Amino acid sequence: MKVTRAWAIEPNGPLSGEIEVAGSKNVVTKLMVAALLGDSPTWLLNAPRVGDVEITADILRAIGAGVAVEGTSVAIDPVQLSDGRVPVRYSGLNRIPILMIGPLLHRLGEVFVPLVGGDAIGTRPIDYHLDALRQLGAEISVTDEGIEAKASQLHGARIRLPFPSVGATETVLLAASMAEGRTVLEGAAIEPEVVELALFLQRMGAGIELQPDRRFVIEGKSRLSGSRQRIGGDRIEAFSYLIAGLVTGGEVRVTGCTQDRLVTAISTLRRMGASFVIEDDGITVRASDLRPIAVHTSPHPGFMTDWQPPLAVLFTQIAGMSLIHETVFEDRLGYVEALKVMGAEIELYDQCLGGEACRFHEHEWLHSAVVHGKTSLVGAEIHMPDIRAAFAYVLAAATASSPSVLSGVDQLERGYDDVATKFRSLGLVIDEVS
Ligand code: EPZ
Repeated sequence: MKVTRAWAIEPNGPLSGEIEVAGSKNVVTKLMVAALLGDSPTWLLNAPRVGDVEITADILRAIGAGVAVEGTSVAIDPVQLSDGRVPVRYSGLNRIPILMIGPLLHRLGEVFVPLVGGDAIGTRPIDYHLDALRQLGAEISVTDEGIEAKASQLHGARIRLPFPSVGATETVLLAASMAEGRTVLEGAAIEPEVVELALFLQRMGAGIELQPDRRFVIEGKSRLSGSRQRIGGDRIEAFSYLIAGLVTGGEVRVTGCTQDRLVTAISTLRRMGASFVIEDDGITVRASDLRPIAVHTSPHPGFMTDWQPPLAVLFTQIAGMSLIHETVFEDRLGYVEALKVMGAEIELYDQCLGGEACRFHEHEWLHSAVVHGKTSLVGAEIHMPDIRAAFAYVLAAATASSPSVLSGVDQLERGYDDVATKFRSLGLVIDEVS
């Protein structure tokens, strides 16, 4: 029987202190996949100690790669790669298998990957990935269990993404780096995590240029080598702990994540009245009185969608009416129901509130939220449904006037490094229960 782990959280006043942010979860797993393209081993340093790294390591091992995860370093030896079929048991665990199609086609010519999972924050189709791979010359068929792909040699193509998808951009970078000829990718995502993958591929020997207007030009190479890279700081983790300070009336300093990854986060919180001390080695936030604002999530350099759930909790603690318009994932506000159980006053709308219409404007998705503050939250028993909602619930529990029990700790640990230790260092009282 699977035991569901839970946290009993005792609110304990303001959360204050310093958090050393780990390397980015959404970079390390992608570089682990990129390592499959090399003809020699890769070493990744400053890797976060998160469940997603373990899942990805297991997937790579299942196809014959050597993977050693020790603390914050991950070594990948792709030389013995022997099997292009990722076992179906890895279906639905994270978003990584789809990214493996390009590298495995280059190495083995035939691939099967199970259907991808990830957080339940929208329908999360994979059509852009598959269209791009087909344009690069892969023969693809989709079955009930997963995706079969074949190609004796991928070739360059001119590809335009209908929306700057992070994952589809990564699929193209990974597949085009060893394709024959030139690939031009237009409408690409340019999130720091995507650029970090591009830089790593360049380090492996790939011919990649990032040009203005969301355009990557990739000259395929016949050989790439393993490399060594220190993973950059996780901007989602950094933002989440800065909010932990603000929402509880404390003061948090984050180190290990550079200012350039947090530009929009900082400018948004400053618009609300937060004050920052920004130094080369750390960023501190504090506030005595915050004001409500309207925020629209959007692709980089906009306000990122993964910052939205912690921000919503902060909005519940600010007097006045704040607004969130989620334009990246159509169904990323479902988690507010649990916040309402805790006493938050939040209404969801299918309209695009507070600004321009987004791609979801003719659909019935509840993708805008009006948050009325300030509300006093009370503790509750809640299940954590996805990584970012999970962190938001911990923040709500820390702000509440009575204890909470949050189940589904695995979700939290899938995405946040040493999360219990870090929260405890800020003063939160957490008891592990099952
Ligand atoms: C990545 O997801 C991240 N996940 C997400 O973080 C992040 O929220 C997201 O990028 C946006 O920044 C990982 O890196 C593992 P997308 P991804 O492709 O790549 C639509 C977390 O908690 N789309 O940029 O899956 C899609 O439905 C996670 O760490 C298609 O329609 O996101 C969405 O509306 C949550 N067809 C939009 O594009 C496709 O083939 C953006 O998705 C692909 C995407």
